[in-house]
Amino acid sequence: KKIVVLISGSGSNLKTLIDNCQETHSFHVSEPINANICAVLTNNPSAGGLEFAREANINTHIVKQADFANRALFDEALLEIIQSYSPDLVVLAGYMRILSEQFVEALSGKLINIHPSLLPKYKGLDTHQRVLEANETEHGTSVHFVDTGLDSGPVILQAKVPVFPEDDADILTERVKYQEHQIYPLVVRWFIDGRLKLENNVAYLDGLAL
Ligand code: GRF
Repeated sequence: KKIVVLISGSGSNLKTLIDNCQETHSFHVSEPINANICAVLTNNPSAGGLEFAREANINTHIVKQADFANRALFDEALLEIIQSYSPDLVVLAGYMRILSEQFVEALSGKLINIHPSLLPKYKGLDTHQRVLEANETEHGTSVHFVDTGLDSGPVILQAKVPVFPEDDADILTERVKYQEHQIYPLVVRWFIDGRLKLENNVAYLDGLAL
């Protein structure tokens, strides 16, 4: 099966997915995910994650909004590249652009995102800082199917982390990312193995609504 990944930043989640799709890594405790990451797309030419893709000989595409007259044209171009790979799954891994309705609808049921909060709490940006300012004692991350809203769409899996009084946003980011690197490959594996489906905007794992 084929996976396309979209990134904007450091790409640590991309790196984890690459590692989980390759059998060559000795630290694998489970079978590799039965899929190839066939392309990595970014809107950010200096996204650190591009290096992980290049090291793994994965095709990369840089698609910048500034090169297009409007968002619709930008999304069309992005979609065209994605569709040219006929992917089974499209993974947003720190992709920092809001996608148009047409884009999301064209990929409905095979587009997933990871968001660094316990959704539906803390949609949007700067989640770690906002969690600290609200004196939360618990935080986390959510993998969800993407629908046309902002960080909405059925949640598939969440991981929680504690928040300690002495934490800052950097420490919290790392604590959350550690969990992301556990749950994102797991969800991708479920999807690739045909265990995860979206029907009428409800997520199902092994036929049971999540
Ligand atoms: C992650 O925390 C993810 O939840 C958010 O963006 C961050 C991406 O990190 N959407 P990385 O680029 O995978 O390191």
